[in-house]
Amino acid sequence: MDVIKLGLGGFGTVGSGLAKILDMNAERIEKRLGKRIEIKAVLVRDLKKKRAFELGSDVTFTDDMNVLVNDPDIDIVVELMGGLETAKELMIKAFAAGKHVVTANKHLLAEHGLELFDVAAENSVGLMFEASCAGGIPIVQTLKENLAGDEIIKILGIMNGTANYILSEMTTKGMDFQAALADAQDLGYAEADPTFDIEGFDTAHKLCILIRMAYGVDYPLSEIPIQGITSVTPMDIEFAREFGYRVKLLAHVMNTDGKLEAGVHPALVPYTYLLARVGGNYNAVRLEGNAVGPIMLHGQGAGDLPTGSAVIADIMSLVRKMTDNCDKPDNTGFGNQPLELASILPPEE
Ligand code: NDP
Ligand code: HSE
Repeated sequence: MDVIKLGLGGFGTVGSGLAKILDMNAERIEKRLGKRIEIKAVLVRDLKKKRAFELGSDVTFTDDMNVLVNDPDIDIVVELMGGLETAKELMIKAFAAGKHVVTANKHLLAEHGLELFDVAAENSVGLMFEASCAGGIPIVQTLKENLAGDEIIKILGIMNGTANYILSEMTTKGMDFQAALADAQDLGYAEADPTFDIEGFDTAHKLCILIRMAYGVDYPLSEIPIQGITSVTPMDIEFAREFGYRVKLLAHVMNTDGKLEAGVHPALVPYTYLLARVGGNYNAVRLEGNAVGPIMLHGQGAGDLPTGSAVIADIMSLVRKMTDNCDKPDNTGFGNQPLELASILPPEE
């Protein structure tokens, strides 16, 4: 198996970012893996749409997911469509066909992750999702591998590039909210429905996934208090500046004596803090472990190449496992234990 063939579900911002990386870093990837990675087929909605990146004439474009799923040459299905139903169907069919899956779909994982991991495990295939949280920042891997031996005390950070872009543009250029949102959409940062970005839901989806990685528990989305940035006014931003603060959309989870409390909300961050200085489409997440202490991860949280970088890392990690003949790829760490919620515990008798 000298060539690993991919079936790509979606060829928008992230799909074309992945294709660009496969092209520009082909030599490096082949050297690192001893194998070439090629796109064999691409699933899209609109077969006539002009694409941001041209693929070779040997790549099949289709609007039928079965073309990817039934192709015995395709080893890995990469789901970069977004949304729930079709993406879930593609993944379940891919698992049943014995194919590994890489996804960037935090909404789907936050809503149906437990079921999807069960089906992947039943079929002894891998499900990888680094790109689902904080774009190009390697935060899933950090929690899963690097901090595997730490108790995570808290996670706090900026996890949505679109919201951070809007707040930064409003602060530094006095830009209007809607104009900044339109820019973020043009730059490929926003979700297909940008309500997810500006109302805080996308941040909550990521937080939900990170909580599973950090604590091994299923913290239901419905239990996370979520407030977005739509009610933040230019006046709020101006007053915050005058008093030495920046307005940032933050996600947090804190472990107090084994009980977790999580939330998403806009907050005033003192300008002396690193988080206050995170601009544009960048994300920054502060993780605190009981052994490592605090660490900060900072980088582009959205966009074609940064997110594509996280996707290719997952693909390469799967290929290494396939090459090592691991019959059970490692899906551990996506926790499903019952949760004790600090915020909804009844008062003690
Ligand atoms: P885009 O909207 O740019 O691209 C989506 C692609 O999927 C398009 O090619 C579209 O086809 C195809 N598609 C969507 N629905 C269907 C369907 N029902 N059947 C067939 N094809 C379909 O999205 P992004 O690339 O921005 O995002 C993709 C995923 O990555 C999402 O889950 C998103 O949350 C996640 N993500 C995005 C990031 C970003 O910076 N944009 C960063 C991190 C994660 P067509 O082109 O024909 O319309
Ligand atoms: N819409 C998301 C954001 C994409 O702006 O952060 C990255 O997950």
